[in-house]
Amino acid sequence: MQRARIIATGSYLPKKIMTNDDLTKFMETTHEWIYSRTGINQRHVVAENENTSDLATKACKDALATAGLSASDIDFVICATTTPDQVFPSTASIVQGNLKMKGFAFDIQAVCSGFVFALNVAKNFIETGQAKRGLLVGAEAMTNLLDWDDRSTAVLFGDGAGAVVLEAAPGKGTMDDQGVLDCLIKADGSCHDVLYMTGGPGSTGDMGKISMNGQELFRHAVEKLGNVIIELFDKSGVKKEQIDWFVPHQANARIIKPAAKKLGLEDKTVLTVDQHANTSAASIPLALDVAVKDGRIKKGDLVLIDALGAGLHWGAALIRW
Ligand code: ACO
Repeated sequence: MQRARIIATGSYLPKKIMTNDDLTKFMETTHEWIYSRTGINQRHVVAENENTSDLATKACKDALATAGLSASDIDFVICATTTPDQVFPSTASIVQGNLKMKGFAFDIQAVCSGFVFALNVAKNFIETGQAKRGLLVGAEAMTNLLDWDDRSTAVLFGDGAGAVVLEAAPGKGTMDDQGVLDCLIKADGSCHDVLYMTGGPGSTGDMGKISMNGQELFRHAVEKLGNVIIELFDKSGVKKEQIDWFVPHQANARIIKPAAKKLGLEDKTVLTVDQHANTSAASIPLALDVAVKDGRIKKGDLVLIDALGAGLHWGAALIRW
């Protein structure tokens, strides 16, 4: 069978860094409040004319350079984003144009779990033989959505992009294969009002503001992510002891650390939320890139990723590096 192997990662973070102390200069908050409740120290923030497609293009170029490939080698680009440059066209099509690529391009909108959803879709294209190589990029300019007067949400998010190159490779169909071994994606629309934007092109005609029930979201994240990982282990036959690295969506260290403890993976968890804050669909590929480049994730390692976001959407995947 064909497996979808991740052969390279890439990333891009905007130059401007805003620390928690920087926020205290224009907002009634403290580093202690933010850090103790979220684990966040700082976030990167896009420049005035820097768009999501700019971040995505740079992350894709980094991943292509690492893979030793050029854009002409790639069959598709999928962009997971909540902050497209425009309502249309897709941000992926702008990236495709920037890279002068052929093939197909489209966006996926599953908010913070967008990378897991996009990985599942890309895996299917490759396993069914519809494409041989693809770029998958999670890219967000989340700070453009923020109401800087709302301290309960403004302190949580940051900007950035992470990309992976996926390539078809033969496998035996076992969990020893290299590649994306298994994915689960879920949604529960009855919880759409736990986290949402108050506006949109089909309703108010403007973006509106972020509305979040933080404590309810917290409860859903702990429960649903715990359950989806158990279901993925049952489905694939993988045991938690076999996991080499846990790379969760970086929303909040208070969600991540208890989950890692429950899995016995405290020392095998990649944590970047302190540096990046919550970059929504970009957070997992950014964290993967950090852990691959610093040598933690190596060929043959079994990596578990999971994410939950507005929708609610959530999911998890097992990847053999
Ligand atoms: N600085 C100082 N005080 C603040 C701030 C701030 N930035 N924000 C809120 N407060 C105050 C509140 O006004 C409130 O004051 P009061 O008691 O006088 O009314 C107090 O702090 C407590 O507020 P809570 O909202 O109850 O704080 P909580 O302990 O629940 O923490 C948080 C809030 C961090 C958002 C938490 O609920 C959480 O982590 N939820 C998960 C949501 C999440 O991670 N969202 C990210 C996006 S979704 C995703 O990616 C999964």
